[in-house]
Amino acid sequence: MSSKTAVVDPRFRPRGRNWPLLFAYLIACGGSTKSTTGTSLAVTMALRGYRNTFWDLDANMSGTKVLGYTPEDLEGRKTVIDLIEGKATFDEVALPARYWIGEDEDGNSLYAPIPNLRLIPSDPGLAGTDTLIALDPDRNDWFMEVMHAYDGDDEVWNVDFPASYGKMVYSVARMLDEDDKVIPSVRADPKDVNLLGPLLDELENIRDKNANKRTVPGRPTMNHLVLTGTPTPSYNEAPARRATELAKAEYGSVLLPLVRYSVDAKKMYEDGVPLPILLPKSYPAEDYRKVATALGFLQRKD
Ligand SMILES: Nc1ncnc2c1ncn2[C@@H]1O[C@H](COP(=O)(O)OP(=O)(O)OP(=O)(O)O)[C@@H](O)[C@H]1O
Ligand SMILES: [Mg+2]
Repeated sequence: MSSKTAVVDPRFRPRGRNWPLLFAYLIACGGSTKSTTGTSLAVTMALRGYRNTFWDLDANMSGTKVLGYTPEDLEGRKTVIDLIEGKATFDEVALPARYWIGEDEDGNSLYAPIPNLRLIPSDPGLAGTDTLIALDPDRNDWFMEVMHAYDGDDEVWNVDFPASYGKMVYSVARMLDEDDKVIPSVRADPKDVNLLGPLLDELENIRDKNANKRTVPGRPTMNHLVLTGTPTPSYNEAPARRATELAKAEYGSVLLPLVRYSVDAKKMYEDGVPLPILLPKSYPAEDYRKVATALGFLQRKD
C-alpha cells in the first residue's frame, strides 16, 4: 500500500514535499458538524477519484464509525495512538474505509469498500494523549515524523479534530503550511458562528509560537468556512437565517457553498454509512458535492 502507484499531481504536493495536502476540520465547538463535513468531503473526493485518508483524531470515534469500524472491530488493531506513541507506521494503522450494508445469516456485519479512501482510526484512549505529550515533549513531533516518513500516493489527508485546542491538536495544527487548509464547519447558529473568532485567535497563537522554527511550517490558516444546517423551504428558522447573514457578512470571502439543513443527516451515525453514500440525493450530500467542486475536486475522467 505504501509504494507509489501513481504520479501525484503537484498541486497535492505543495513546495515539492512528500506528504499530501492537509485539510483540517478544526474548531473548538462541540457538535458543530466537523465530522459530518470531514467524512462527507473525504467520501465525495474518493468517489470522484481522489486518493485520500481520513484521520480521526477525536476520542468520540464519530468518523471511525461512519467509515466502517466500531470499537469492537478495532480490538487488537493499531490505532492513531500507536502513531502518537511512535510505535507504528502510517501503513500499519491505515485501514480501508468501508460502509455497513447488512448482515449475513449468522448475524455478522457485511461491508462494501469505499475506493480511494483509507482511515486512520481513533481510539477512546485518545483523550489521554494531551498528558502523554506533556510528560514526553518529544511526542509533540509525532505528526511531523509521520509526515516525513510518508511515501504513499494520497492526494489529501482529511483530518477531523476534537472540539478543543489541547496539546494533541496543537501537535498537528502547527504542521500545517499556508498551502494546507483549516476548514471549520459550523452550524447556522449565531453561537457557533461567533466561535470562529476564538479559532482565528488560536491559529494566530500557533503561527506566533512557531514563527522562527525551521522544521515546523507553523502557518495554519482559515482559508475556507463550511456553514451547515442552512435554511430550506421546510426549515426556515430565524436563527439559521440570522447566522447565515452573519457568516456572509463576516466571512463572505472564505465561505464555501452553503450546506443545507436535513433532518436525515443524523442517520449517518445510526447506520454507520457516510452521508454521500447513505443519502446521495439529500440536500447536504448535494451541497457537499458543490463544496468539493469549489475546492477543485472535479469528477475525474479516468
Ligand atoms: N446539514 C445538516 N443538517 C442537519 N443536521 C446536521 C447537518 N450536518 C450535521 N448535522 C447533525 O449535527 C450533529 C453534529 O454533527 P457532527 O457530529 O458532524 O459534529 P462534530 O462537530 O463533529 O461534533 P463533535 O464536536 O461531537 O465531534 C449531528 O447530529 C449531525 O447529524
Ligand atoms: Mg466530530
